[in-house]
Amino acid sequence: MKKRTNIIISLTFLMIITSCENHQKTAKITQMNSIHKINKATQQVRDYVKKDIVIAHRGSTYWAPEETEQAYIWARNIGADYLEMDLQLTKDNQLVAFHDDNLQRTTNIATVFPNRVDDAISDFTLAELRKLDVGSWFNHKNPDRAKTAFEHLKILTLKDIIHIAEGKKLQYHPEKSTFSYVEDEKDNGNRPGIYVETKHPKSNIEKYLAEELTSLGWNINTQPKEIITKKGKVGVANTNARLILQSFSPKSIQQLEKYLPNIPKCFLLWKPDMKGNLKKVYTKAINFAVENNVHIIGPSIAGTPNNYEELTAPWMVDLIHQSGMIIHPYTFDTNEQLKKYSKDVEGVFTNRADLALIFYSKNKIK
Ligand code: G3P
Ligand code: CA
Repeated sequence: MKKRTNIIISLTFLMIITSCENHQKTAKITQMNSIHKINKATQQVRDYVKKDIVIAHRGSTYWAPEETEQAYIWARNIGADYLEMDLQLTKDNQLVAFHDDNLQRTTNIATVFPNRVDDAISDFTLAELRKLDVGSWFNHKNPDRAKTAFEHLKILTLKDIIHIAEGKKLQYHPEKSTFSYVEDEKDNGNRPGIYVETKHPKSNIEKYLAEELTSLGWNINTQPKEIITKKGKVGVANTNARLILQSFSPKSIQQLEKYLPNIPKCFLLWKPDMKGNLKKVYTKAINFAVENNVHIIGPSIAGTPNNYEELTAPWMVDLIHQSGMIIHPYTFDTNEQLKKYSKDVEGVFTNRADLALIFYSKNKIK
């Protein structure tokens, strides 16, 4: 009898221990999968950014050659809230807007520098890059949308794009490889913000970016300039959200926070970077963003023509919103995509700013 009692006591003890261990394991998993929340100061900066914003992706790639004067002036005049750009650092530490890591797709590099077609942007000086034509490729690729004005366009700097956002147009000076900024007779008073990505970040680009933004009066931490805006026109350039920063690189997000704190920041997500259990890595990415004072998540959306992987599914949207962050997915090209996602997100990166503006104004009227 005593032996039986001992066995029962031992079994009960074992069950209690196992149950405690299981409870600890569950707690650990829940903790691992639990979403952290942004703090009050981060919420305050998040709220600088207005809702339903239209972000002209590379200026709006459907209508004009990407990241050129023609694209950005078109986006400003049509009423996009933000001009989006991908910034890279040249060999002489100038900030230029260019998406790819080499110049083959969108320039005549093969003709101008035939021995350097595989070189990175950071291997060229600004003066060398300004020898390239970044517009004509668009006319060859899209004859139905081709324009003479797209021929011989020059690569732009951050400073050039900021002047376009401020209502100016550019005048080129070949002897100095620079632009001056003049009144634009086509300017209709819209003053969009800028949405700046650090692309292929290296060489301390974030430090150069902070210095340039400060000197141009676009860093809200350091005596921002007053930009006159008119009622009924886009006036984002004169708000605390005149500048939004973005990167796919966790390291760059941390450097941006170091050099440009208290400015809205977006952490971009890309499926090939998210290896392993998707729920776990997605949660991890959101928690990284929360811990680094990020305000916005930029996930990809599905659908033609890009056919990116789905990173804006309803469960993903829920997780981001649980954290207190807002969502600006990329890249919207069709009305179907706007219909499918727009109710769940706070803004859209789009190659068709025209479609997105019509879509949002129709929806606001309803
Ligand atoms: O920055 C948002 C979106 O532009 C990310 O994709 O490759 O076009 O820079 P990508
Ligand atoms: Ca980009």
